Amino acid sequence: MIIRSARYISSSITPDRLPSSHLPEIAFIGRSNVGKSSLINMLTGFGKLAKTSGDPGKTRTINHFLINDNWYLVDLPGYGYAKVSAMQRQEWMKITLDYILSRENLMCLFVLIDPRHKPQKSDTGFMEFLGINRIPFARVFTKEDKMSRTNLKRSIEEYNNQMLEKWEELPVTFITSKITKSGRTEILDFIKESLNNFSKSDSVWK
Ligand code: GTP
Ligand code: MG
Repeated sequence: MIIRSARYISSSITPDRLPSSHLPEIAFIGRSNVGKSSLINMLTGFGKLAKTSGDPGKTRTINHFLINDNWYLVDLPGYGYAKVSAMQRQEWMKITLDYILSRENLMCLFVLIDPRHKPQKSDTGFMEFLGINRIPFARVFTKEDKMSRTNLKRSIEEYNNQMLEKWEELPVTFITSKITKSGRTEILDFIKESLNNFSKSDSVWK
C-alpha cells in the first residue's frame, strides 16, 4: 500500500469523543516506550506525525490519524507505565480497553513488544485478553536494530514458547526497526488485507 496522505484528526480521552466509525481503523498498542509512535511515523513516512519521546508515557490519549482519506490509524496510550499514579494508570487502561472492546470498525490491533526484555506478563496477559475477546491482533517486535540477530531470534523463541503454553497457534508476527525501516512493506501489506475485511462488510467504504 502506498501512503499518499496522513493527517492528524483528534486526541480523545473518552469514547464518546472518538471520530465517527464510518471508516475502518487500525490501532497500535504496547508498553510505554516500546516504539508505537515511532512505528507509526516509519509506516506512514511522515516523520513527525505522532509525537515520540524518550520519556515514557508521552501518548496519553487515543490519537486518530486519517490515512489516504479512507482509513484511520490510531496511536493508543502505552500500558505498564510506572511513573504516574496507579489511579491515572487504571484510568488510561480503562479508556483503552473500552475502546478496544467497543470499536466495531477496529480491523486489527498491532501489539508492540520490545524483544530486549524477557516475556512480560503485561504483554502476554494482554494478548490473552484479546484472544478471549476475539479481537483481531498481530505482534510486532520493535527496535530490531538494537539487537544482534542471534539474540533477537533467541528472544522471540522464548516468547513463542511461553505463548504456546496457552495458544494453539501463534499470532501473525512482524519485526521492525525505525532506523532500517525493516518490516514496513510487510505491515502495510497486512494492513491493506485487514482493511479489505471492512469493505466486504460495509458498502459505504470503497
Ligand atoms: P509512549 O507514547 O510513551 O507510550 O511511547 P511509544 O511507545 O510511543 O515510544 P516512542 O515511539 O516515543 O519511542 C520511545 C523511544 O524509543 C524513543 O527514544 C525512540 O526514538 C526509540 N525507538 C523507537 N523505535 C525504535 C527503533 O526501531 N530503533 C531504535 N534504535 N530506537 C527506537
Ligand atoms: Mg507514543
